[in-house]
Amino acid sequence: MKKPLKFFLITDTHVYARSLGTDGEAFEKKDAYGSTCYKASESLFDAAADLMLKSDDINIVLIAGDLTSNGEYESNINMSKKLQELNKKGKQVIVITATHDYTSDARFPNRVIKSYKCQGGREVETPGTERRELDSFYGEFGRAQAMSVHENSGSYCIKLQEGFRLLCLNDDGNGVNCGYDEECMSWILNCIKESRDAGDFIFAMTHHPLVPPMKVYPMISRRDMLVDFEKTAEIFADAGLSLIFTGHSHIQSIRSHTSKKGNTIYDVGTAALVSYPVPVRQVTVTGETAEIKTLRPKSFVMDGQEYSVTGYTKTRFDSTIYGAIEGAKNDYERLAAILGGISIKREVVDNHKILMRTLGNIADRLTVKGAAKLLMVKADIRGIEKVKIKDLFAGIFRGLYAGEKVIDKNSREYGFIRAVMERILIIGAKAGVKSLDGKENREKIFEIADDIILPGKYDPNNITIPLK
Ligand SMILES: [Fe+2]
Ligand SMILES: [Fe+2]
Repeated sequence: MKKPLKFFLITDTHVYARSLGTDGEAFEKKDAYGSTCYKASESLFDAAADLMLKSDDINIVLIAGDLTSNGEYESNINMSKKLQELNKKGKQVIVITATHDYTSDARFPNRVIKSYKCQGGREVETPGTERRELDSFYGEFGRAQAMSVHENSGSYCIKLQEGFRLLCLNDDGNGVNCGYDEECMSWILNCIKESRDAGDFIFAMTHHPLVPPMKVYPMISRRDMLVDFEKTAEIFADAGLSLIFTGHSHIQSIRSHTSKKGNTIYDVGTAALVSYPVPVRQVTVTGETAEIKTLRPKSFVMDGQEYSVTGYTKTRFDSTIYGAIEGAKNDYERLAAILGGISIKREVVDNHKILMRTLGNIADRLTVKGAAKLLMVKADIRGIEKVKIKDLFAGIFRGLYAGEKVIDKNSREYGFIRAVMERILIIGAKAGVKSLDGKENREKIFEIADDIILPGKYDPNNITIPLK
């Protein structure tokens, strides 16, 4: 019987060096209107490091990419120093990098991203990082101890402990499509075979999701998944890989894919350390099972002041929805900044100010009772009549990202949402929207909505997965 393997895992730390400037209008736009807490990013990392250092029996820390805000050279300097500290204090740090960790790549000269610092209220260009420089920052954290390295991608395979190997897969592709080329894939399959032949349990860590964290995710943005994720999941599962850890989506999720031949692979997706819920995974793998727990640092210190991790980051998370509503009501700059974060152009706000204000006021005040009356919906809303629609949606959104879904199929909240959706879809179908026509089409939409609202098959925060 092998000694179980224990480790911590964090991802998407998005460290932004404080020295790049955290005041003024330019930084406000970067930081204050979204859920990513750039100003607190270094402090949140330090809090997570302190939490992990408290453990004497877990001495391995995995990090699944997007280490820095956007590849600023100063952020990479700070991040690598932090990892060296963790290393000196007894933790073996194993890192992969991803698209937010560099700004240029000699392999793809057309992909150049600029790095900015925030100075005097303006964004000023600051040195970025070339991809090949990442090795000098992070090569010592895993790659230097690798059993095998795939040179072109920088992926590597490492023996973590007797009986356990980890594939650290850099999937940053060409910056547009992320995945593995044919040559890298054959190296991966060879590593899996060698490990299985040696009787070692092998699992993987990559940045982009292999199994969608929600059904609608690839429909909204397929490029945020691994390229050909359906095919890759089949290949991995059939090659005998049953466990992979991913980041990128900033969603706390555990999903599985079973191949046509009946082999299952679990994708343990971890949310960003720089946003609510600031998760630190604690994992124990035996080879037959993987026990996944989620810890969260209680507090962090910034500028000499102590903050509650949950209080600070949850308020910031909710500000995405509440801030957009407030912005629509009376602060178009704020609304434009928030919508800009989800790729909605500024002109949309500028050209529809009156409509935005009207919608903002409705969204701010509307209660469940008000919405039911407005849409002539019949549902049992006893006890939730006074709940504001914006609070209901903020809760669903937060529950999805943090893996803390609280609405179940028998709840009045669910009954109300379902009745509202039925009404809206029928109105849409009558208005001639073809994709809403017919019961079958509408059922597909309900299925997608259920996947977002209701708890899934696996608890994303606390579960033991069977691996065989
Ligand atoms: Fe990220
Ligand atoms: Fe990412």
